[in-house]
Amino acid sequence: MNRIKIFDTTLRDGEQSPGCSMNLTEKIEMAKQLEKLGVDVIEAGFAIASPMDHKSVQAIAGAVSNCSVASLARCAKGDIDAAWDAVKDAKHPRIHVFLATSDIHMEYKLKMTREQVLSRISEMVAYAKSLCDDIEFSAEDASRTDWAFLVQCCINAISAGATTLNIPDTVGYSTPQEMSDLIVYLRQNVPGIENVDISVHCHNDLGMAVANSLACIKAGATQVECTVNGIGERAGNASLEELVMALRTRQSFYDAETGINTRQIYRSSKLLSNITGVPIPPSKAIVGANAFAHESGIHQHGVLANAQTYEIMTPAEVGVPQNTMVLGKHSGKHALREKLETMGYELTDEELEAVFTRFKSLADKKKNITGSDLEALVLHRRNNVRGACRLVSHVINAGDGVPNTSCIKLTRDDEVLEEVAIGSGPLDASFKAINRMLNMDIKLESFSLNAVTDGEDAIGEAVVKLEDEHGESYTGTGLSTDIIESSIRAYVNGINKIMEANA
Ligand code: KIV
Ligand code: ZN
Repeated sequence: MNRIKIFDTTLRDGEQSPGCSMNLTEKIEMAKQLEKLGVDVIEAGFAIASPMDHKSVQAIAGAVSNCSVASLARCAKGDIDAAWDAVKDAKHPRIHVFLATSDIHMEYKLKMTREQVLSRISEMVAYAKSLCDDIEFSAEDASRTDWAFLVQCCINAISAGATTLNIPDTVGYSTPQEMSDLIVYLRQNVPGIENVDISVHCHNDLGMAVANSLACIKAGATQVECTVNGIGERAGNASLEELVMALRTRQSFYDAETGINTRQIYRSSKLLSNITGVPIPPSKAIVGANAFAHESGIHQHGVLANAQTYEIMTPAEVGVPQNTMVLGKHSGKHALREKLETMGYELTDEELEAVFTRFKSLADKKKNITGSDLEALVLHRRNNVRGACRLVSHVINAGDGVPNTSCIKLTRDDEVLEEVAIGSGPLDASFKAINRMLNMDIKLESFSLNAVTDGEDAIGEAVVKLEDEHGESYTGTGLSTDIIESSIRAYVNGINKIMEANA
């Protein structure tokens, strides 16, 4: 059985996708979850890109220890120095250097000849190697590179000390057969390739990122690069959950396994969606709300008789919470902790205290608290920082033909703030009141609302995207059985993130 390494680039390539930016605290939270998930490598960012990127790669390097932490770097000394500086304190540091090798990239983007590219690879991989043992080299746009030239690039990278060779389908142009043929060709023509990991990094422009990556595994690749929920540049990267579950469900076909704890998949997916505010499409394989739903009578009948008639994997395998009634208003902290532990959440006493307070106030409004409700409460435990605003109360007067007014009361540390505003609707009035009392010029970019579970007393989860005075975007989320309250909470949560970032 071949052991396939999972290289997760959610925090680098994934974060490059529109609407998916994360702040430092969120990146660390996500990195810790990726560690729990069992990925082999976390690509934590592109250290040279900005001081903030450098800081977050460094923080992640210090926060996880069971997986390697990589920083991306172009083939340039400054980039490599920044990458090394950011990852050097990691338990397992990796520098990931890349250079484009296709004719179109070399001519129009790099303005370099093939000879220049070859010697830059040798020089910069050797320089990175002088700093760090674990070096990955990526031939950007490899799938559109002349194969004989790609062989030369790989030979130079290996001779200079690369321990992983990454073959990206940067623009998502390839087909599974072509990617497979390319890996076979490289294995036959690059001396020493058997001593390094062969990695693939497939984009999803034609919807084939996962199929291409799997074809490469069949052809001998030993590492796949992917992201949670498949986020990434343009149409995204290969989706981690789809790759992992394909390898697990079709293990005898692929003769391969990963080190992923599949029961952490759903939680990782939800956490990312919760942090970024980017919803998971209902039909998304493995983690979408419909992934295990059987709607038609024939299917339901089959599943009741024998689940395997229509289920090739179980929701439990990927950690989907069971929504049988779990807790209610008389449940205590001990029962809450036990239930959360069976769901795979281990909270500190302080975290448990915060979740318990919210659990109690939810239990006053909702009779049966399900696994999905508990998961939502846990995921929404962020933003307990000093200086953060908290919603105390909101009074709304709204309707057709009357002015929509909102009176909001917030606390910021010991200060109590109160403001009334009129708006085109109850939310517009509430957001205006908050902006005014905090003297902030915040723009609402987008807003969405989803029910966490079914039923009349379902929790509404609101997600807002806010733009601050510098044009930076932040996501805020809020939960309540009252959808106006969850929307105001989401707005306040977004504002807290803006204040934290600008502190
Ligand atoms: O898509 C790509 O080629 C990349 C490289 C930097 C690995 O993201
Ligand atoms: Zn990429």
